[in-house]
Amino acid sequence: MALYHIILLLFLSSCSAVFADVTIEYCSDNLTIPTTQMSANIDSLIAEVASRTSQNRFSIATYGKGNDTVYGLGQCRGDVNSTDCTSCIQDAAQNIRTNCQNQTDARLWAENCFLRFAAINFFGKLDTNEVESLYNRDHPQHPSAFKKVVAAFMSKIRSEAIVPANQGFAKGKITSIPANVTLYGLAQCTGDLSMQSCNECLNLAIGNIPKFCNNVKTVGCRVLYSSCFVRYEIYPFYYPLDA
Ligand SMILES: *[C@@H]1O[C@H](CO)[C@@H](O)[C@H](O)[C@H]1NC(C)=O
Ligand SMILES: *[C@@H]1O[C@H](CO)[C@@H](O)[C@H](O)[C@H]1NC(C)=O
Ligand SMILES: *[C@@H]1O[C@H](CO)[C@@H](O)[C@H](O)[C@H]1NC(C)=O
Ligand SMILES: *[C@@H]1O[C@H](CO)[C@@H](O)[C@H](O)[C@H]1NC(C)=O
Ligand SMILES: *[C@@H]1O[C@H](CO)[C@@H](O)[C@H](O)[C@H]1NC(C)=O
Repeated sequence: MALYHIILLLFLSSCSAVFADVTIEYCSDNLTIPTTQMSANIDSLIAEVASRTSQNRFSIATYGKGNDTVYGLGQCRGDVNSTDCTSCIQDAAQNIRTNCQNQTDARLWAENCFLRFAAINFFGKLDTNEVESLYNRDHPQHPSAFKKVVAAFMSKIRSEAIVPANQGFAKGKITSIPANVTLYGLAQCTGDLSMQSCNECLNLAIGNIPKFCNNVKTVGCRVLYSSCFVRYEIYPFYYPLDA
C-alpha cells in the first residue's frame, strides 16, 4: 500500500550472520505533520512507554489532551530477559522518530521488542492492515515434509499462545524425522489483545507463511503484524538457546 513506507535496518553481528539483528520501521505516509504540542507529546509518550516496558515487559500509555492526544504501546519478546528487554526498548525509543519524525503513526519491530505510537487509539484493536515479512533462504532437504511440519507445528504453537495463562506467547521446538530437521518456533500477540483476537491474528500470520516464505525455498520465516508475529527457524533463536 502506497500510504506507507518501510525502513529496513540490518545490523550484522560480528560473530554469526545467523544471529543478525533485524529492525523494521514502518511510518505512515499520511502526511499529518504533528503540531509542536503533539510532537512534544510523542516525545514524552515514547519516554514513558520505554520506561514502563522495561519494568513490566508490556505497556500502553496515552499522553496529551484533546486532539493532541497520542497513544503508545511497547512490548518485549516473551523469552528475552530484562536486560535485553530494556536495551531493546531504549534503542527503539531513540530510533522510532529518526525516520518517522513527521508522522503521527509509527511502528518499529526489533529483534527483541516492538514499539508503536499513533494519534488514534488503537488499544485492544486487532490490526492486520500492514504486514512485514522476512525469510531465511535455503532449500529444505524434504520440501513437502518440511511444509507439512511447519504448518502443524506453528498451529500447535498458536494454540499454546492463546491459553489465557500464556498471555499470547508461546515457543517450542520439534524434531521431524520425515523432514530431517529440528524446527524452533515462536508466536506472540501484543498484551492488549483478547485471546480471541490473538487467535485471529496468529491464524492469519500462520496462514500467510506459505505466501511470504515459500517453503520450497526457505527454511526460516517471520510474519509480522502490529498485533502479533510468528517466527520459525531451523536453529535455536529464542532464549534459553538450549531449551
Ligand atoms: C491521516 O491523519 C488524519 C489526522 O490524524 C486522520 O484524520 C486521517 O484519517 C488519516 N488518513 C489516513 C488515510 O490514514
Ligand atoms: C488541535 O486543535 C487546535 C485548535 O482547534 C489546533 O490549533 C491544532 O492545530 C489541532 N491539532 C491537531 C494535531 O490537529
Ligand atoms: C540476558 O540474556 C543475554 C542473552 O541474550 C545474556 O547474554 C545475558 O547474560 C542475560 N543477562 C542476564 C542478567 O541474565
Ligand atoms: C519534517 O518536516 C519539516 C518541516 O516541514 C521538514 O523541514 C523536514 O525535512 C521533514 N523531515 C523529514 C524526515 O521528512
Ligand atoms: C539428514 O540431514 C543430515 C545433515 O544435513 C544429512 O547428512 C542426512 O543425509 C539427512 N538424511 C536424510 C534422510 O535426508
